[in-house]
Order: sequence, then structure tokens, then C-alpha cells
Amino acid sequence: MIVQSDFSSKQLSVSAPGKLMLLGEHAVVYGYPCLVTAIDKLLTVSVRKSTKSHDQIIAPESSDTRYVEKAIRLVRRKFPISGSLLIKTRSELGSYGLGSSSAVTVAVIKALTLWLGKFLPNKSIFNLSYHVVRSVQGQGSGFDVAASLYGGIIFFDGKAKKVTDRFQINLPISVGYSSVKAQTVHMVEKVGHLKKTRQKYVSSIFSSIASLVEKGAVALKEKNWRTFGQVMNENHKMLQLLGVSTPKLDAMVSSACKAGAYGAKLSGAGGGDCMIALVPTSSKEAVDNAIRASGGEIIPCKVSFEGVRH
Ligand code: MEV
Repeated sequence: MIVQSDFSSKQLSVSAPGKLMLLGEHAVVYGYPCLVTAIDKLLTVSVRKSTKSHDQIIAPESSDTRYVEKAIRLVRRKFPISGSLLIKTRSELGSYGLGSSSAVTVAVIKALTLWLGKFLPNKSIFNLSYHVVRSVQGQGSGFDVAASLYGGIIFFDGKAKKVTDRFQINLPISVGYSSVKAQTVHMVEKVGHLKKTRQKYVSSIFSSIASLVEKGAVALKEKNWRTFGQVMNENHKMLQLLGVSTPKLDAMVSSACKAGAYGAKLSGAGGGDCMIALVPTSSKEAVDNAIRASGGEIIPCKVSFEGVRH
């Protein structure tokens, strides 16, 4: 058996990737499936014993330390930790809506449990991380936690909260930030309100989104980018009908398509943050320029096949 103090004198670092929603946002909150990819931008957490009498969190890129605090509290409740901790975070994710909250939560829980010599299965890391994210946000489907944990492109079952398929396929993408910070909780509430007032309308949109996710997964397996692009365009239209797109996101999406993208859509909660385009290599430069010309900032990133790592 490894004695805890052997561990606590050491520093341990864990990195978790951010995410981009490919297909299925909002519907996934109500139990429908989605397709999400991890990206090659990381959030790194290091843990060691603190010399102070209280836990210290040093998170230079974030003013919101609730995810780290709640993750520490939850791990402490499961596994007693003597003394105080020094937790440092370093992020490449910025505040573009690329999943920094779920990445920091997964990384803290993985880092702390490993530091204590506990090797929890991914399912347990998922459950603990999802609990933390929900307790801070009050809602959320868990797709972002799954992406940070497992990596690659995943088919996430919003009902069972399970990854049912994984794809190690390098999607040719361009990502544009709309320069407006999205309020995810507000956007989810907005759709929730629409669902209450126009139940049938919203349910039929969610069913269409679910069919698009299924169709997208087949196209992805076949590397049929043309079909995948059409599915993205259709999904964007559904998100417009839900009222979560903005004129800026619409402009970025349509200019990307005009410049040669196979398809494009907003990615995430909407109301701001990012859009994503599927792009033939030969049109990449033209698409990036078109997104910039519509006021977007290009965020260079790629699909990542690796999830949380030590
Ligand atoms: C936000 O990135 C995606 C939503 O579907 C919320 C969620 O799934 O937790 C809008």
C-alpha cells in the first residue's frame, strides 16, 4: 500500500482538453444524443501540499474558482486529506467557450485522486466531475465532461450520460470566435422557457436535431465531409429556430459556406462564443479570411484524440 504522505510531498500535474460541440447542442440537455470533439488546447492542474493553513488556489486565467473549490471539497469528502493543498491551474482555453469549466473540474479530480494514490475508473471520474459542474451551473448535459475525460470525437448519449461511440478521425475544421461571451446558463434557460410555452414545436426541433446527429455519425464514419457539412448547416437552422443564434454568428456561418466550407454552424450554447466550419484543405485560407471579414477571430485548434492525461 502506498502511504499518503509519500505522495503529498510530491507535485503531480494532469492536463485535460477543451471541447467543441459538433452537433446536437441544447437537445442533449433533454436526453438526446450529441457529437462532440476534444481539442488540442489544454487546461493543466498541478497539486501539491501547501505550507499555509488553508487550501490555496492559483488560477491566473480565471476569476471563477468555484469548480476547483467544489472539486476539492468532493474529493476530501470521499478520501480524507491531511493538511492543506496548493492547486495551480494553467489554461490554453481562454474564455471562448471551449469547455474550461469541465476541463478544470476533470483535471482537478483526476490530479487529486492520483496524488492520493487512488486510481478511479473513468466512470467514477465522470460522475464526480459531472456532480461538481452541475452543482455550480445548476444544469448541463455532461457532454463537455465526457469530452475532456475521454478525448477524440465522441457520440454522447444525453439520456444515459454515456459515451456510446468514439471516432479517431481528424476533422478538417476552422473555428471562429464571435467576440461575444456566451452566457450558457441563460441560453439553456431561454430554450427551457420556449420548450414550456411551445412544447410540440421544440420537441419536433429536438427530434430533428437527434436525427441529424445520427446522420452526422454515419457521415463521419464514412468520412463523407459533404454530407457532414450539410448536416451542420441543417443543425444551424434548427438552432436559429430555437432562437439561440445571433446575427454575428449567422454572418460568420454563411460567409464560411460561401468561401468554400462544406458546412458550418454555431457551436455550444449560442448567443455568442464560437462557430465551427468543416473545410476542405484547399479552401482553409479563404474560409478563415471570410470568417475574419465577418468580424470573427480565428481560434487555431484541431481535434485531439487524447483525453485527460497525467
Ligand atoms: C453548451 O455548450 C451546450 C448546451 O447543450 C448545454 C449542455 O449540453 O450542457 C447548450
